[in-house]
Amino acid sequence: MVASRIGVLGRGLLPAGEPVLRGDDLGVLRGDGLFETMHLRDGRPWLCREHLARLRAGAAAVELTVPADEALVELLDEVAAGWPAEVEGALRLVCTRGPEGGGPPTVYATLAAVPPAARQARRDGVGVATLSLGVPAEARPELDWLPVGIKSTSYGASSAARRWAARAGVDDVLWVSSDGYALEGPTANLVWLAGDTLCTVPAGRTGILPGTTVAWLLAHAVEVGWAAAERMVTTTGLRDADGVWLTSSVRGLVPVHTLDGVPLRRNPRTRALQDLLGFPHP
Ligand SMILES: Cc1ncc(COP(=O)(O)O)c(C=O)c1O
Repeated sequence: MVASRIGVLGRGLLPAGEPVLRGDDLGVLRGDGLFETMHLRDGRPWLCREHLARLRAGAAAVELTVPADEALVELLDEVAAGWPAEVEGALRLVCTRGPEGGGPPTVYATLAAVPPAARQARRDGVGVATLSLGVPAEARPELDWLPVGIKSTSYGASSAARRWAARAGVDDVLWVSSDGYALEGPTANLVWLAGDTLCTVPAGRTGILPGTTVAWLLAHAVEVGWAAAERMVTTTGLRDADGVWLTSSVRGLVPVHTLDGVPLRRNPRTRALQDLLGFPHP
């Protein structure tokens, strides 16, 4: 097992156990910060440019100052240096608003091996249950005060959904709007195949996180002979689909084998999609 690492902007790699944050850091006190998690493959972060672009868009939305990309890339390089090429890594970049009362943002990166459970989910798939988000699908982007589609460190709702999934005996959750549309998982986007069109939920219309993995997958769908589209879908639509998956940077592409206890159609091209995305098989 490779030891996990942590590096702080301006301080470099730190020994395990070395303090990183001040107790009054707003990231801790208020979950006031942004982060990105990247898939480290062959020792390099995949889609680094896209992750940094999403971080920067989120920073503009919440008026958070983040250092220049060059400084962030330097930190990521420092943390990833010497990581064994054959070990898949989860490389997380965190930017909080820093100490209460004003202060520079706290910027650090962590690196750990992709957990075996994530690799197993790629192979075996996941059982998912729907969970109501309690708002109509298009309500959140209509609120001009609410930043949407940002990857905030404030993960209270996601953690609650994950605990609910554990109590319900399922692997993951699919959030559904009060008007019946499937949106996203607490840490993943939804993908399904309708005929020969690979689909995902429109982030701009619904306020879900615009996923880097799903964006790349849909942009390259033509390479496996499929078209790509953003669509709204109900759970009935998912039951009729020719394959349903969750995508995220660390798990990659994971087939959903059951939705609310109902078996879904397994798509034989799952492995081809995982190969296309470049995620290794367990
Ligand atoms: C809420 C949510 N949606 C979607 C995703 C997938 O995004 P990406 O593919 O960029 O990892 C994540 C990733 O953690 C997430 O937290």
